[in-house]
Amino acid sequence: MISNRKDDHLNFAAAQQREERARTDWDEVRLLHHGLAGIDASDVDISTSLPGDIRWPLPFYINGMTGGTETTGKVNAALAEAAAETGIAMATGSMSIYLRDESVLPTFRVLRDKNPHGFVMGNLSADATPDQARRVVEALEANALQIHINSVQETVMPEGSRGFGSWAENIASVVESTPVPVIVKEVGFGMSRETVALLAELGVSIADAAGNGGTNFARVENDRRAGKDYAFLADFGQSAAASLLDATTLPAETPRPALLASGGVRNPYDVIRGLSLGARAVGVAGTFLHTVLGESGVEANAAGTKRLIEQVNDWRDRLIEMYAMFGAATTRQLSETDVMIGGELAETARLRGVNLAFLANRRSFRR
Ligand code: FNR
Repeated sequence: MISNRKDDHLNFAAAQQREERARTDWDEVRLLHHGLAGIDASDVDISTSLPGDIRWPLPFYINGMTGGTETTGKVNAALAEAAAETGIAMATGSMSIYLRDESVLPTFRVLRDKNPHGFVMGNLSADATPDQARRVVEALEANALQIHINSVQETVMPEGSRGFGSWAENIASVVESTPVPVIVKEVGFGMSRETVALLAELGVSIADAAGNGGTNFARVENDRRAGKDYAFLADFGQSAAASLLDATTLPAETPRPALLASGGVRNPYDVIRGLSLGARAVGVAGTFLHTVLGESGVEANAAGTKRLIEQVNDWRDRLIEMYAMFGAATTRQLSETDVMIGGELAETARLRGVNLAFLANRRSFRR
């Protein structure tokens, strides 16, 4: 049952948030400190822009998670109230369930009802037809549509698909006929530069390189299997940091979508790290879900909404301070800072031909 799956995803993903955190690739991204490079915080603008005349006041957003059941509808309501209060952009989870059963619409539509003037994104799989994409955009009055590519998740999912061959063609048709920008996203396994370049060929103008290191859908789906048969895929995929680095190796003349990054973002410094590697904005799912559900992880309520409002406002304030510290007046300027890549991330990047010395010396190259 698809509705049970939605509750399973929520419960297993929330349980992962309560585990002790391992070191991730974000920890291997360190911005170099220049003590006299700072500017006044009053001169900082942390807003960000994306193709399709999109401007978000914050360079981070609530990524697609949920909807479709009573419990997940309450989570969406709590997230949406916080979005309305803070101005953060927000996506629903996959609305495939709505295409089969229109009675679940309120659990998704709550994003718009609670936030009439906010930036709301729908979410569908890469199997979606242009007609289905239009239905979802209309039902939500969505400002953009996320299309998720999740072949690893489907492979491990007990009831998952094994048919991925039509996705590229489907995506091209959906992009062509959808009246709002289409954002193609992974669900936590990263994007290679080849995938990024292909998306541009398909007409996609925005892609979210959702990488590993955060909510792990190979583990979530494996936990749903009686035999736990796919434990060997638990570490599969690339991180968002590795994906952003990979994209830097595309030849300058190769068209590419504007990149978003997500997966395992824990704090404002992770947001800065993603932006410094070229992301236009950074997505957060599991961390904000944990905030809304609280330690008990039972049900979303008004206290959860209040916690998330405080957290989003706190991240906004910390970001303004850190932009000032790094001397970035705008989000774009963060992508010109000096960044040092270490550990296994550096090894991966070297194997893919990334110029790490350039990244660590961008300020002097610019002069
Ligand atoms: C997700 N994610 C997700 N993505 C998507 O495109 N469609 C979906 O329906 C869902 N469902 C979903 C449910 C839950 C409970 C979570 C936590 C996440 C994936 C999400 O957007 C993101 O790509 C990954 O979770 C990685 O980011 P975090 O969680 O590490 O910040």
